[in-house]
Amino acid sequence: MSQPQTEARKKMLLDGRAVTIRPLGEDDYTALLAFGAGLPQDDLLYLENDFQNPDIIRRLVNASAAENWRQIVAEADGAIVAYSAVRRLAGWSSHVADIHLTVGSGWRRSGLGTVMAQAIFDAARDLGVNKVIVEMLERQNAGRAIFERLGFHVEGMLSAHARDRHGERHNLLILAYHVS
Ligand SMILES: CC(C)(COP(=O)(O)OP(=O)(O)OC[C@H]1O[C@@H](n2cnc3c(N)ncnc32)[C@H](O)[C@@H]1OP(=O)(O)O)[C@@H](O)C(=O)NCCC(=O)NCCS
Repeated sequence: MSQPQTEARKKMLLDGRAVTIRPLGEDDYTALLAFGAGLPQDDLLYLENDFQNPDIIRRLVNASAAENWRQIVAEADGAIVAYSAVRRLAGWSSHVADIHLTVGSGWRRSGLGTVMAQAIFDAARDLGVNKVIVEMLERQNAGRAIFERLGFHVEGMLSAHARDRHGERHNLLILAYHVS
């Protein structure tokens, strides 16, 4: 299996702003916590990970060197402005990995989500898995558009499967890509 990518690379966004795409590092606790604190309330309702919980942020940062987990961030002026992760599942799905993607609200619609999705998709291939999935609420159109462009297809929908922070239930879509 290949080694995790370690290099940082600069990327120019559609609006002319520049970001550095790089792996999450052990020193990113404060920056990732600040990223979570800045996410819109509406997002926080629907994110699987609670990005405002310091324990979760600590867990993510501590996993930065984990063998079955790749986490990539976009950085601008020392701040984290987007986060993505791919993790190999356990047990009988250990040939499958799932992806998470979140872009900071001030950085959306500039192509950053697409850049991050491509980067984490490459990282998934680096993990050596045969199948990559992304779970999202049916209402998360933007994420769906990005991953369908990368070649993912809707493989299933689980009814009323996700609960937001108000307790409301939502259908969960599973998009998948089979690596040949
Ligand atoms: C989904 C998300 C990552 C998109 O990030 P982004 O940086 O805005 O994405 P891009 O600028 O690369 O947009 C790519 C495409 O997505 C679609 N899109 C983006 N935002 C959209 C919106 N608000 N409504 C509808 N489509 C949207 C468009 O097709 C867009 O292409 P276009 O700009 O050429 O029309 C971001 O909105 C986000 O973090 N949302 C909260 C978390 C989430 O929904 N994650 C997805 C599940 S993994």
